[in-house]
Amino acid sequence: MIHPVRFIRTASDALKTLLYTRWNDYSQVVVLTDKNTSKHCLPHFRNTFVNRDFIHIPLPELTEESKTLRSVENIIAKLMYAHVDRHAAIVALGGGVITDTVGFAASVYKRGLHLYFIPTSLLGMVDAALGGKNGVNFNGIKNQTGTFYFPREVIIDPGYLATLPRREWESGFAEMIKHGLIADYAYFEQLINRLAAGRMTDKLMEHIIRSVEIKMRIIQSDFRESGKRKILNFGHTVGHALEACALQSGIPMRHGYAVALGMAVETALSVEFAGLEKAIARKIVRRLLEVYPVPESMDTAITDCIMEAMKHDKKNTGGEPSFVLLQAPGQPVCNKKIPGSKIREAIKHTLFSV
Ligand SMILES: NC(=O)c1ccc[n+]([C@@H]2O[C@H](COP(=O)([O-])OP(=O)(O)OC[C@H]3O[C@@H](n4cnc5c(N)ncnc54)[C@H](O)[C@@H]3O)[C@@H](O)[C@H]2O)c1
Ligand SMILES: [Zn+2]
Repeated sequence: MIHPVRFIRTASDALKTLLYTRWNDYSQVVVLTDKNTSKHCLPHFRNTFVNRDFIHIPLPELTEESKTLRSVENIIAKLMYAHVDRHAAIVALGGGVITDTVGFAASVYKRGLHLYFIPTSLLGMVDAALGGKNGVNFNGIKNQTGTFYFPREVIIDPGYLATLPRREWESGFAEMIKHGLIADYAYFEQLINRLAAGRMTDKLMEHIIRSVEIKMRIIQSDFRESGKRKILNFGHTVGHALEACALQSGIPMRHGYAVALGMAVETALSVEFAGLEKAIARKIVRRLLEVYPVPESMDTAITDCIMEAMKHDKKNTGGEPSFVLLQAPGQPVCNKKIPGSKIREAIKHTLFSV
């Protein structure tokens, strides 16, 4: 196990966490939150770890737009200002933006402090908090700089989700749907049916556990992403580029939403370049676009930006984008190179029907 994941199902489960049992061994426990998690999640944290003292550092200005090296510096400055020493523990309480940025800062501050992740968004619970990758955006390119650094423990408490806005649920569901497409097609169908029926909370804990299992199994086999872990990037070559272009155009798109549209394009490409059966591809694309429709404000003009942004993707070799495609549902293949004209055509055809 590269880092333990502890699920909180009853109040007493919190007492079994490593964070709780080791609390008094640390010189300080420092909890960092963004604007929303200060308001919505800190009270639940206090109730969970009752009678424990901690230093709270709010980061109200931290969002996807400011997930940059400057925010990492800002966190380091705040840790210094609070006299946080090498024997302290850092707790990142928030979504993927908090765990990525605080994780990065904790990995370099005084050459690395003990780190705990308490993801509070669905996407954080099933994806961003797992696997030890911390990244921030650079020059408008997603997650361009970062570190590999394991938290001591990831604590998953669905109690935090009570205040999560609907669009954030949908964003988290997209990564779970990805887990289905790369590893368990029946799981994909269950999730997409739930989402289409607006019943996202049905069997929620079961689904979170299933997604955590799938992601952890993949990263355990390949921590540094030299091989198998790459399959987790399904939908992300186009998805990350789309997310960056939407951000540049001033209409930010949730990460999961961009990945869902990226999965639609990459599923379509899988027919010609990985041998995916056409009828299955059509069905997957249709179902994805039903629940993640292309925003009305977006048109085919974004294709040029996506093509340009893909040139900077971390997965590239020799400046050429590399794709994870599906040979069959649940059977991904990595490192697929595709001619630019075909990618352009697939984006236009799949997302804009032109
Ligand atoms: N490191 C990794 O392996 C990895 C994997 C996937 C995604 N990511 C990154 O994660 C980020 C996306 O994560 P995210 O979707 O959690 O984004 P996020 O952290 O921006 O959270 C989404 C929104 O929900 C709010 N929020 C979070 N928890 C809440 C709660 N319980 N109640 C009310 N509001 C709450 C946040 O303040 C924010 O406004 C992206 O930057 C992506 O690149 C990293
Ligand atoms: Zn993702």
